Parts: sequence; C-alpha cells; structure tokens
Amino acid sequence: MNYTGVLSRYGNLLDLPEHITPITLLEGDTPLIPVPRLAEDFGGGFELFVKYEGLNPTGSFKDRGMTAAISEAIGRQVKAVICASTGNTAASAAAYAARSGLRSIVLIPQGKVATGKLAGAVAYGAQVVQIQGSFDDALSLVVEITQKHPIALVNSLNPYRLEGQKTAAFEICDTLGSAPDWLCLPVGNAGNITAYWMGFQQYNTIKKTGLPRMLGVQARGAAPLVLGHPVDNPETIATAIRIGKPARAEGALQAAEQSRGRIIAVSDEEILSMQRRLAGEGIWVEPASAAGLAGLQTEIQAGKLDPKKSCIVAVCTGHGLKDPDIITRQMATPTILPPKIDMLEEVILN
Ligand code: F0G
Repeated sequence: MNYTGVLSRYGNLLDLPEHITPITLLEGDTPLIPVPRLAEDFGGGFELFVKYEGLNPTGSFKDRGMTAAISEAIGRQVKAVICASTGNTAASAAAYAARSGLRSIVLIPQGKVATGKLAGAVAYGAQVVQIQGSFDDALSLVVEITQKHPIALVNSLNPYRLEGQKTAAFEICDTLGSAPDWLCLPVGNAGNITAYWMGFQQYNTIKKTGLPRMLGVQARGAAPLVLGHPVDNPETIATAIRIGKPARAEGALQAAEQSRGRIIAVSDEEILSMQRRLAGEGIWVEPASAAGLAGLQTEIQAGKLDPKKSCIVAVCTGHGLKDPDIITRQMATPTILPPKIDMLEEVILN
C-alpha cells in the first residue's frame, strides 16, 4: 500500500514531534486548475489558477492540517479531540477522529453552519454541540475546556494544524516550478494564510522558489483584520468566515506585511457573484471560497493590483456541496414534465 497523504509526501519538511502516528485519508494533491477565461474577464495578460481544495477527502482544505493534528493527538494517547468550528473544521476533525478511533466533540454557532458541513460532522460520528453565540464564543469555550481537561484542541491554535496546511504552498510551488506572484485566499480565523506564508518562506529557503505577495480577503461584515479591531457581531453569507476575532490575526497581518501584500474586504454580493462566475467554469465552491477571487477582481478593477505578465493562484477552500442551500434557496423550481417526448421537445427545442 502506497500512502500518499501530505504527511508521507512532505513529512520531512514539517515540524512534528517524534510520537506522530500517521492517520491519513490521503488528503492533499489537489488540482491547480487554469482558468484563462476568468483571467480574460479581469483584463487578461496574466495566468490565473484555482487551487481547488474542495477536492480533499471531507471537501475542504482543513484535512491537510487535521491529518497532522490528529496524528499527533493519537500519538500521545489522547482519548478525545475538540474544536470550535464554522463547519469545515468540524467535519474534518470528525472524519480523522473516526479514522483513528478517537472521540470527537465539535462546537458550532447555532443556526450558522451550512447543511453539508453539519451533516458531515454527524455522519462521521462527532458529538455536535450548538452554541448560542458566535464562532468566537465557541472558540473561547474550547480553549478553556482543553486547559481544564485532557482533551486535545484541534483548531488552528494547534501548531500541527499549520504544519499540515503548509503543504498546500509546497504543492503549488512543485506544480508551477516556483511560487506564484500573488496568492489570494479567504481569511476567517486566519490559520490558513499564516500556514501558506510559513510554507512559501520555508520552500524559498530550501528551494529558492521565490515568494508570492499575499492577498487575504475577508467578508465586509466580518472584517476585523481590515478594520483593525475585533467585530462583536460578525455577519456574512459566507458562514465559513463569519469570524470577528481571528485566533491567528497576528500571523495574517505578518503574512500581508512581510509579503508586501494586504488584507481587504469584499461584499456578500461580490462573493456570491464570483461563486456563480466560478460555477460557470465548472468549479462549484462554497461562498467563502469565492472571496479570494472576488477580492482579486476588485483590486484589479480599482487599479490597485496590476496583474500583467504575472502568475496568480486563488485558493478555493471548500466544495460547493458543503452549502447547497445557498443555491437551492434562490433557484426557480426546475420544469416538471410528464414523460412525453413531444412535451420534452417543446421545452428544450423552443
Ligand atoms: N474557507 C473555508 C471554506 C473555511 O471553512 C474557512 C475556515 C476559511 C476559508 C478561512 O480559513 O480560518 O484559516 O482563515 N473555516 C474554519 C472552520 C473557521 O471552522 O471550518 P482560516
């Protein structure tokens, strides 16, 4: 059996302890899809790729970090893991815990988690607790409870999560042969942008791959890093990044500053419009995942980012199937017909 998860592929580049016991669902190795028509829409003259992280085993990028966090937890004989989540971390933690025979507990903000994520957490057997509050409230609770009880925290405050998530940066460099000029991605709790920047820096040190400029994108109603202060009641259609007090804020601000990039905010309308535009390329992502590209588009249109002759990678963090309701809610009911050929002809040929 040839295991090709991110730990076996890149384990020698990850800062993980000796007691690691690999638990994998063969995550990573996601496609870097060229989207030339989208680049043309943005004015053309540059290369644009989507790193489609929705194709990980549980449908989001979280699996890269979770394989590391759960492998570490199981290696020191922890009996249970816990996380706060807007949904994707919950599903991922539940899956990797199930794979290793660990108990998992996930805290989610009541009523604000997309159906596919909640269903995943339940299907993989997590104990799901809905908190009457925000993700930020749930995160404070899990931090406190893991200080009092022998339960492992698997949010991105756990350093091994970031180690695993660095592998996405390695993959991009390995595919392109160097780092892109810009990397744009959504920012919520800010673990992912922190991990990408760590990964690109490390690869540049050992392989001279160069460094990208980082464009982190938040939703306007949940943009603490743009505003410069926490947001008490974050609101956005992109529930994955509905976060007012990012745990990895410092890492995100450093990534933006050190890379000569920035963190910006886009509206829910811009996010949804980009989600539709991407689906028009055959790439269906959940709303939060479209934020990076929505941000890139606004920056280019405002003349703040000149893409000419550059190579840009947009990270699409989660699959569209995670949040089907966002589509079906606004959809007209599809045509209903009796099984008659003449009626079908009338409907599709006229
Ligand atoms: N995109 C998706 C689809 C996410 O689920 C998340 C975070 C992000 C982007 C932002 O990543 O937090 O590292 O800045 N989801 C977390 C969760 C908060 O609980 O699933 P980040």
